[in-house]
Amino acid sequence: MEKIITLTQIDEAVQVVRSRITHTPHIGIILGSGLNTLADSVQDAERIAYGEIPHFPVSTVVGHTGAFVIGNIESQSVMMMQGRIHFYEGYSMAQITLPVRVMQRMGVDTLIVSNAAGGIHPDFKPGDVMLITDHINLLGMTGSNPLMGQNLDELGPRFPDMSQAYDRELCDLARRVAGQHGIHLHEGVYFCLSGPSFETPADLRFLRAIGADAVGMSTVPEVIVARHGGMRVLGFSGISNKASLDGSSVTTHEEVIEGSRIVTPKLEKIIRGVMRGL
Ligand code: HPA
Repeated sequence: MEKIITLTQIDEAVQVVRSRITHTPHIGIILGSGLNTLADSVQDAERIAYGEIPHFPVSTVVGHTGAFVIGNIESQSVMMMQGRIHFYEGYSMAQITLPVRVMQRMGVDTLIVSNAAGGIHPDFKPGDVMLITDHINLLGMTGSNPLMGQNLDELGPRFPDMSQAYDRELCDLARRVAGQHGIHLHEGVYFCLSGPSFETPADLRFLRAIGADAVGMSTVPEVIVARHGGMRVLGFSGISNKASLDGSSVTTHEEVIEGSRIVTPKLEKIIRGVMRGL
């Protein structure tokens, strides 16, 4: 049975977070695998471990520390998720997206998401950054959507539009910032599957055929909840490894974490520039 999260539970979590912080964040940032060190650049940081917040799922994966880091980046008040929770850890869609609901109730109106992803597009190399211009929600198509169950009308509409899941103005801003820093920004479609097993070569050829440029195990549930809640969304995939459509190489978690390390400084420059431009 899908574990549902109620508005009361969301607000109990919000109350605990509010009681611990002095900032009023309006930008949410979710850091993907291996990208956690970006949280070190938050100034006047206040930190709350997920384990201290009621109803929060706790991450069990190496490379995913679990805490909100709340403070300032480039004079913007941000609420950063250092580590996210994944569907493959056994939590429900509603549980893994609870942090985004907490952000929404705290007043966050803009969400920047990042992830480590396998590069499916033939031009993508480990260490590259892809601006996410759209996604394919296979999990949702097969019945795992975080908005399943009774709609929380206070938070958003029953049937939210997804025609512009990734905000066009924010995408333009990210393109300008990347250009100013001489960072080559790929663009493409992110494909989310559940994991935790990586894809077979046949899986990957299928994904390529249906229009996926990068593949990973996160982000899409969070973006759906953010859009349901009326937030503007900007998303980046750090290409941590090249997906092997012919089965000639293996993919490991260590490779993913190592690839993300190369991406981190580029992503930090882009995120800082976006903060200045907002
Ligand atoms: N496949 C799925 N998820 C991933 C990958 C991959 O190759 N790399 C990083 N996350």
